Amino acid sequence: MQVLKPSLSPCLKRQKLHHVSRQANTCVCTSVLTAPAQVEQPKQVLQSPWQDSKWTQYKWTVYRGIAYDLTSFIERHPAGNWLINLAIGRDCTALFESYHLRPKVASEQLKRLPVLQDFPVEAVPSSPYPNDSDLYNTIR
Ligand code: HEM
Repeated sequence: MQVLKPSLSPCLKRQKLHHVSRQANTCVCTSVLTAPAQVEQPKQVLQSPWQDSKWTQYKWTVYRGIAYDLTSFIERHPAGNWLINLAIGRDCTALFESYHLRPKVASEQLKRLPVLQDFPVEAVPSSPYPNDSDLYNTIR
């Protein structure tokens, strides 16, 4: 039988690191069976901006990877509050870019809104980015 060079792995019996043969799945110290040597990867836990009170206090939206607070602007939106309410709690990039006939005018206003620093934008499903399409811009 091939003699394996033991490596340091957790032995289940003793719950600590000592020599375990990965291939034979045995602990060479005690000759008891162990679980296959595995390295546990830490699971990334995403913050939920829909549940965390740090963010639920805002009427937030995400536009092109940046989170904004719409609270102060909703009642001032030139097209009323019904449409802009659709932007709250989601990535509004496709809505924003497909509804505004003069994108630069709307973008200038957007840039004046408060940016939410450290917002977990990666937890928010990304929308399409219509303005990246030359065809779309030409048709508009
Ligand atoms: C997210 C932040 C938003 C900002 C800062 C914003 C800003 C603006 C501004 C400045 C105008 C006047 C544009 C002009 O005079 O040319 C406007 C108009 C309008 N907005 Fe918004 N808007 C936002 C979100 C939305 C959303 C989510 C929708 C649709 C779902 C929407 C639909 C409209 C429409 C239909 C008009 C009238 C048409 C137009 O002026 O292009 N807006 N908005």
